[in-house]
Amino acid sequence: MISEKVAALLNNQVNKEFYSSYLYLDFSNFYVDQGLNGFANWYKVQAQEERDHALLFMQYMQNNDLKVTLEAVDKPTVLLKENMDPLKAGLKHEIHVTGLIHNIYDAAYQEKDFRTMQFLDWFVKEQGEEETNATDLIKKMDLFGSDPKSLYMLDNELAARVYTAPSLVL
Ligand SMILES: [Fe+2]
Repeated sequence: MISEKVAALLNNQVNKEFYSSYLYLDFSNFYVDQGLNGFANWYKVQAQEERDHALLFMQYMQNNDLKVTLEAVDKPTVLLKENMDPLKAGLKHEIHVTGLIHNIYDAAYQEKDFRTMQFLDWFVKEQGEEETNATDLIKKMDLFGSDPKSLYMLDNELAARVYTAPSLVL
């Protein structure tokens, strides 16, 4: 039995994951405008992953007979001017999301809701990877972003990212 508190947190996370998807589409659009289609591709794939996360939370709720309520998704309001801006905002956002996941985990732990804890384990690991990826991108932009030739090659590298479905199946 999943408590009302944990159910509310799970439902809230559906919204947050859709917001992440929306935010990363905003980043993707920014890079399209900059002519950096590889970066744009990278964030478009990232947006697809975030949508998948929202669907996984929905599926988990529905597998446990919980009603999902879709709320309005916030408008992305991060001011983007420099090529580095989305990368830094992305890391900040992932750290925030890690906190949200840990908060749900903590609530499940308090209530000995082992099923939800096990479901969230995948997301705890995923968040570690997201933070690492975001940090790596910042490092690369720091190193190569100011040299046009290197930026071109980095953009080409990021153009190669392809979408793959999440490894978690519910
Ligand atoms: Fe996510």
